[in-house]
Amino acid sequence: MRVLVTAGPTREAIDPVRFIANRSSGKMGYAVAAAAVASGHEVRLVSGPVALTPPDGLECAQVTSAAEMLDAVRQWVPWCQVLVMAAAVADWRPAHVSARKLKKATGTTELKLVPTADILSSVRSMKAGRLFVGFAAETEQVVEEASRKLRAKGLDAIVANDVSRPDAGFEVDTNRVVLITAGGAEPWPLMRKTEVARRLVEWIEGAVSREEEGES
Ligand code: PMT
Repeated sequence: MRVLVTAGPTREAIDPVRFIANRSSGKMGYAVAAAAVASGHEVRLVSGPVALTPPDGLECAQVTSAAEMLDAVRQWVPWCQVLVMAAAVADWRPAHVSARKLKKATGTTELKLVPTADILSSVRSMKAGRLFVGFAAETEQVVEEASRKLRAKGLDAIVANDVSRPDAGFEVDTNRVVLITAGGAEPWPLMRKTEVARRLVEWIEGAVSREEEGES
């Protein structure tokens, strides 16, 4: 299988020294990429800025902003059979990026934000027979909210994690996820991210082979 994975945060510049970002360490996405390589698949990784070294045996594009991640994903989607979007893409960016460092001001400063493009929605028209898997970072009504994203973004599956838990979501080495498809929601127990990734790759392999059997 040819698997395209995204990982890490994006950074949206305010001025030459400041940016908006989020807490994503890249651990979850890098674990998915490494598990796919370990299972013998061809893997490409689009990574936001993280402190991790890309796993051996894959091609990696390093990007900074949501716009750059969208460009890289658009370029590689035609190559892939499976897209796994584990990246925490910024939902907003500053409306204006100052070319010079903004001066420190006393009192309140206002920052105007505009939405970034939604990457999954932007590549939806390129889906064809590909399997698209998203992740959902939620803090309340985890299954309901993630199921809504599954439908809105036209995904085959979404991996929901409750990022308000201390042992799940951002930065930590473990995760507690619910795998959601059109068929229902399957809660997985607390596991290391490497194990979540291994099980997700196994699930993807099964889904792709079921799809291929259905076609033949
Ligand atoms: O990197 P770690 O520290 O290991 O943390 C892992 C994680 C919490 C980042 C990961 O498990 C996770 O939940 N990733 C998805 C984070 C996220 O952006 O969730 P969301 O619910 O806001 O977005 C839903 C889906 O839409 C995601 O697949 C996301 O990649 C995608 N998206 C979001 C915004 C956007 N502009 N374009 C997108 O395609």
